[in-house]
Amino acid sequence: MKPITLSTLQAYKRAGDTFSSLTAYDASFARAASDAGIEVLLVGDSLGMVLQGHASTLPVTLEEICYHTRCVARGKGASLLMVDLPFMGNASTERLLENAGELMRAGAELVKVEGEAWMADGIRELTRRGVPVCAHLGLTPQTVYQLGGYKVQGRDADRASQILEDARTLVEAGASVILLECVPASLGRAITEALDVPVIGIGAGPDTDGQILVMHDMLDVTPGRKPRFVKNFMAEAEDIHGAFRRYHEDVKARRFPAEEHCF
Ligand code: KIV
Ligand code: NA
Repeated sequence: MKPITLSTLQAYKRAGDTFSSLTAYDASFARAASDAGIEVLLVGDSLGMVLQGHASTLPVTLEEICYHTRCVARGKGASLLMVDLPFMGNASTERLLENAGELMRAGAELVKVEGEAWMADGIRELTRRGVPVCAHLGLTPQTVYQLGGYKVQGRDADRASQILEDARTLVEAGASVILLECVPASLGRAITEALDVPVIGIGAGPDTDGQILVMHDMLDVTPGRKPRFVKNFMAEAEDIHGAFRRYHEDVKARRFPAEEHCF
């Protein structure tokens, strides 16, 4: 596989093709995901939950993210490596720039930040300095205590148009990719159609340009009740490699997500 870059994702979008993304936290799983053809790997701060056992992503530190980024970078193959800016990594512009610099030095190729229209200035400063940005909108897990739980966002028309406006503003500020979490499928589609940058969805319906899942969820390792958007790809697979391949193929063929995974 040729190295996947932002240009590859843009070309997919122009051609109406989809791509798959998956979280990765170490070199071995990164290699397996990359070998299965998964185009984008995310070192997500979900590692606070699935690796460290916390109830949220908030405790994850920059050092921890950098450590896992260095591990994933060694196994990532041709996949594009996206990395989360941890909670409060954007406490000031100076802090944002320093933290993003550390993530890029650790191997990030795209830095994902949570935040609405107010993140525009920070995104402008980052892109000016050569840091490509993915803006994460909709359900933003770093604000879970403010949101009052992991809930679908944008069910009402006002909030839906606010999310669409925010996405537009952040793309104007320089965001190269938008990630939408837990929004109605109709909003996922409207935002994907309105923007000319790739949109990645998780619980955002079948029409976004890319899809992403947390690895532990789709391998059915995560304990307890799974969110609606999760599918257990181990159920029909012989092994983890088969589950990754099946996920990738199902996304490419637009078989995943099905209606039962959408809001
Ligand atoms: O941290 C993470 O895994 C994420 C995905 C759920 C998009 O941000
Ligand atoms: Na995250």
